[in-house]
Order: sequence, then structure tokens, then C-alpha cells
Amino acid sequence: MKNRTLGNTGEQLSAIGLGCMGMSHGYGTPDDMESIATLHRALDLAINFWDTADMYANGVNEELVSRVLMPNRDKVFIATKFGFRHKEGVSGIGGLPGTYFDGSPAWMKQAVEHSLKRLRIDTIDLYYAHRIDPNVPVEEMVGAMADLVKEGKVRYLGLSEASAASIRKAHAVHPIAALQSEYSLLTRDVEKEVLGTVRELGISLVPYSPLARGLITNTLDVTQLDAKDFRRTLPRYNDENRDNNQSLASAFADLAADKQLTAAQLALAWVLAQGDDIIPIPGTKKRKYLEENAGAVEVVLSKSDLEAIEALLARYPNTGPRYSEGALKLVNR
Ligand SMILES: NC(=O)c1ccc[n+]([C@@H]2O[C@H](COP(=O)([O-])OP(=O)(O)OC[C@H]3O[C@@H](n4cnc5c(N)ncnc54)[C@H](OP(=O)(O)O)[C@@H]3O)[C@@H](O)[C@H]2O)c1
Repeated sequence: MKNRTLGNTGEQLSAIGLGCMGMSHGYGTPDDMESIATLHRALDLAINFWDTADMYANGVNEELVSRVLMPNRDKVFIATKFGFRHKEGVSGIGGLPGTYFDGSPAWMKQAVEHSLKRLRIDTIDLYYAHRIDPNVPVEEMVGAMADLVKEGKVRYLGLSEASAASIRKAHAVHPIAALQSEYSLLTRDVEKEVLGTVRELGISLVPYSPLARGLITNTLDVTQLDAKDFRRTLPRYNDENRDNNQSLASAFADLAADKQLTAAQLALAWVLAQGDDIIPIPGTKKRKYLEENAGAVEVVLSKSDLEAIEALLARYPNTGPRYSEGALKLVNR
């Protein structure tokens, strides 16, 4: 495995990480045995940058990850997040009934204790605010997060889906090591302003959903998703965009095959090619996908490969929004 450096921290992380969310939350039926085997395989492959969050299956994902993390603590750089909360009766954010966001210092101080307990560790390597709370000044939130660093509960701080302005305000209070935001061939919002800002400040971009939640792999039949699969709530998987997106994925897989790659490998190679300061965290609960994705790190794309990808994307412009209207209100804040 190749390494990349996290922001200005000097920490060497695997050039691709492992997104653990789908092992317990959002994407179909969990298979804990295969997920545990996948985490062990990640150790073998030296994929050491693991990503979870307190909201994934209400803490169950942190507990699952802990089963391999705890006995291998020195081999893993663990990231988790706080802010989304659950309360029955709340209408919920974008497809997640009962979910609301709380970025207050009071909640964060409780949330970090819950995460440490579920992960069964003393210190979280990278602690993200899962979103910027419109009701809490970013300086106040990051100030409280910085206290966790002083207390030794957290080593580095991160933000997720923050705007350029919020990133600047946050970084002035305490160094931010990583911004985790959606970035893939289908979601390029960060290219407008945010990517330039994090580069200027020496912050790594950690792209989540770098495979467009599986869509770009051309292995997903979006008409066959489980009734409870979170992707059913996303416009890209719905009637109006489905045909465009499945045609795009199919054409992309043909392009990848010309290079003896899978679509997933070409999609990850594209993300990796956007800069050495970018560390994507593809998500999987399966060893075979993990192994395949690890291969993307070895792929070198030429200028003409990148041009061919752009030309293909331009043929299928109607991909649809990445989130429902409610969830979009919480990004780029
Ligand atoms: N900060 C945020 O707000 C936020 C939001 C979303 C996600 N995340 C984090 O980012 C991580 C990655 O994002 P993601 O999981 O949403 O999306 P992703 O990595 O774009 O895609 C995951 C999906 O692709 C499938 N897949 C993975 N590798 C594959 C391969 N080689 N061939 C075919 N299919 C493949 C997975 O299948 P299987 O499930 O069957 O393995 C899963 O359905 C998450 O696990 C989570 O930790 C953060």
C-alpha cells in the first residue's frame, strides 16, 4: 500500500482508507462475519485509515469496528464523527426519520465519551464534526473540540461538508487536519472553492462516497435495492435519473475494461489523481471489493485517460442531485 500524509500532521496514512458505514448502516443487510473479515484483510493490506461515525446504526458500527480495532490499536488510524442525533418523533433529515443535527459543545462532550466507550480506546485519532450546525458558531464548536485535544481524548480535528468560509474560521481557532466531503466523478462541488481553500491551508481532503455510493461501479442494480436501503431516498437512484446514471456507469465500465481495470478501480484512480493531498475512503463490507479497490492505488492515469473520462461524463449530464432537499440544507455550511 502507498501512503499519503494527513494535512500538516506528518501522519502517514494508506492512500485509500476504509469506509465502515455500510457494514452496519444504510446499504443493505449487514453481514458482521464478512465485515470483520474485511477489517482483518484491511490490516493485511496495510489499509490503516478507517472511518466510522457515532450515527452509523446508532453506535453499532463503532462497536463492530472496535472488535478488530481494539486488539490492533497501534496498526489503525481511526476517525469518527459526532453531531447527528436521534429522537423519535422528529421529522428527520433527508431520508433519516428521527434524525437532527446538534453541533453544540454540550452534546459534543457527551458524544465523544460515548464514542470512546463504544470503540473501547483512550484516544480517537481524528474527530470530525459531521456537519456545521447553523445554530452554533463554528468558532465555538471548534473551540470545544480543541479542548478534547488538550484533554488527550482526540489527536486531530476534522470537519465534514463545511464551506470554505467555515473552514477558514475553524482553522483560525485550531488546526484542521482533514475535510471529509463527498467527492467523486459524479459529485464535484468541492472543486468550485473548497478544494482550493483546503490546499491553501494545508488540510487534506478525505472524499467520502468516492464510488458514488456504488453507482459508478456498474455492479449495482438500483431497482433491486433493499426496501430500507438509504440510497432509495436519494434522487440519483430514483426514476428520473436512474436511466442516465446506469447508462453512464455502463459506459464507464467499458472505458475501464479497455484499461484492464474494473469501474471501481478507474473511479478511485481518478479521485487519487486529483492530488496527493486527497485520501479517499471507499466503503465496503466485502473482502473482494476491498482487494479490488486497493489495486487502484497502483493505477497511473495519463492526460488522455483523464480527457476520455471527462468526455464520457459530458455525455450523461443528468445525474441528479446527490442528496434530498432536506439533507442538502446541511452541506457547504
Ligand atoms: N461525512 C459524511 O457525511 C459521510 C457520508 C457518507 C459516507 N461517509 C463515509 O464514507 C465512506 C465511503 O462512502 P460510501 O460507503 O457512502 O460510498 P462509496 O465508497 O462510494 O460506495 C460504497 C458502495 O460501493 C460498493 N462497492 C465498494 N467497492 C466496490 C467494488 N470494488 N465493486 C463494486 N461495488 C463496490 C459497496 O458495496 P458493499 O456495501 O456491498 O461492500 C457499497 O455499496 C462510508 O463508509 C462512511 O464511512 C461519510
